[in-house]
Amino acid sequence: MHGIFRRYLMQGKWKIRNAGIKKPETQNIKTYNNKMSNVKKAEGKLGVMVVGLGAVTTTFMTGVLMTRKGLAKPVGSMTQYDKIRVGEGADKKYLKYNEIVPIADLNDIVFGAWDVYPANAYESTIHAEVLKEKDVNPVKDELEAIKPLKAAFDHNYAKRLDGDNIMVGKTRWEMVEQLREDIRNFKKENGVDRVVVLWAASTEVYVPVNEEVHYKLADLEAAMKADDKENIAPSMCYAYAALTEGCPFIMGAPNTTVDIPAMWELAEKTKMPIAGKDFKTGQTLVKSGFAPIIGTRCLGLNGWFSTNILGNRDGLVLDEPANFRTKEVSKLSTLESILVPEDQPDLYGVNCGGEGNEHNGYYHKVRINYYPPRNDNKEGWDNIDIFGWMGYPMQIKINFLCRDSILAAPLCLDLVLLSDLAARCGRYGIQRFLSFFLKSPMHDYTKDEVPVNHLFQQYVMLKNAIREMGGYHADEPID
Ligand SMILES: NC(=O)c1ccc[n+]([C@@H]2O[C@H](COP(=O)([O-])OP(=O)(O)OC[C@H]3O[C@@H](n4cnc5c(N)ncnc54)[C@H](O)[C@@H]3O)[C@@H](O)[C@H]2O)c1
Repeated sequence: MHGIFRRYLMQGKWKIRNAGIKKPETQNIKTYNNKMSNVKKAEGKLGVMVVGLGAVTTTFMTGVLMTRKGLAKPVGSMTQYDKIRVGEGADKKYLKYNEIVPIADLNDIVFGAWDVYPANAYESTIHAEVLKEKDVNPVKDELEAIKPLKAAFDHNYAKRLDGDNIMVGKTRWEMVEQLREDIRNFKKENGVDRVVVLWAASTEVYVPVNEEVHYKLADLEAAMKADDKENIAPSMCYAYAALTEGCPFIMGAPNTTVDIPAMWELAEKTKMPIAGKDFKTGQTLVKSGFAPIIGTRCLGLNGWFSTNILGNRDGLVLDEPANFRTKEVSKLSTLESILVPEDQPDLYGVNCGGEGNEHNGYYHKVRINYYPPRNDNKEGWDNIDIFGWMGYPMQIKINFLCRDSILAAPLCLDLVLLSDLAARCGRYGIQRFLSFFLKSPMHDYTKDEVPVNHLFQQYVMLKNAIREMGGYHADEPID
């Protein structure tokens, strides 16, 4: 054991920071020795099968195809742009990820998808109205060839959707079997060696974790076979099928899908990486980057009120209270581990949020309102009530006019490429180093692990994992 990992162990933090990150037994790490020797090369094609062919997915696909033709730049993608330090002192170098680890080439990606609506990827891209036609038409043929497979769908999980490109009359277990066959066929038809499955479909209604069904793999499988529609969301069928077929699975929505011990058990069994939940794109990205300013400067917080208007299909689905509940839980979790009431009671503890406040400290509220005129161009407002010396109050206002899918697309690319890399490195289970990209990072809550939400700590975790997979020291401590 070396560097940072030993340090965490000594601090008793090993379990918290690194749980779920499995070090391959064969990995032989030498100091600053960039051999990449124990990482399988990214040979052959990489299949990317996306659940949901909506705004995010089509923006992601179009961007990759346009980049391949040299007609666009993959701005915002860490795997394509970021350079990180490896080595120290005279050995210090700043390298791009693919100079440290073997990352799949964009030219090797083959896309597939499932969706509730039958529109192909070109029609869907035009419908989403995120991109201008001039940025889509050069890859029209390639997009038209991406036709969605029938969705494993249950209307009760997304009431506002009424498409008919769905599997009809199938039990949950039959959905799993069909999805497994879809993946196998996709591999065969496209000559693909490896597939990553990414969920970029609508947010499902909130499924509370039920210990009797979601804690053990055997119970989960029994519930699928018994067609337990209440406890088994369609997304769980996709995840189960992916992991069983040897594909990493990424949850880009806030669904609890793989955030349950039974799925962790399956990921251990099949030795596959899982990542989730919920792409960290706009407001939460700002929040996880801004909250550390307040915490680092030892300022107090009375309340943080976040609201958004959004007019795309995602906004429509989230207008349904049961679907919004899933998103709300995910968005609220961000501040809890950055500004911790128990650590600093004077600054964030009881009564900071005002009298009669049922919150255990500062008041934190998040709203999303469906507002069609804005389509994908979300506008978010944050009002932050802070206090300083002797308790004197101040306010901070943030107004972010963003583009949802433009921010999400590079996250899709990075999550896919890094999950594929993790699988080739023999990493499996929850990939905590991918927390950087996610709003509500997965962690083993049955063992009281604390998620890392602090953007810059997440970045250190990401860099250390890349260094380690590349055969360098994971030498940057997290304070
Ligand atoms: N864009 C962002 O900034 C952002 C950030 C975080 C999370 N997300 C999440 O990403 C997801 C996609 O967002 P979007 O804007 O592309 O939404 P969208 O509504 O444009 O696309 C989602 C697609 O998923 C399909 N779908 C729903 N259930 C399905 C199922 N069971 N099987 C197959 N297809 C299914 C829908 O028909 C739709 O076409 C949403 O869950 C959203 O909450 C987006």
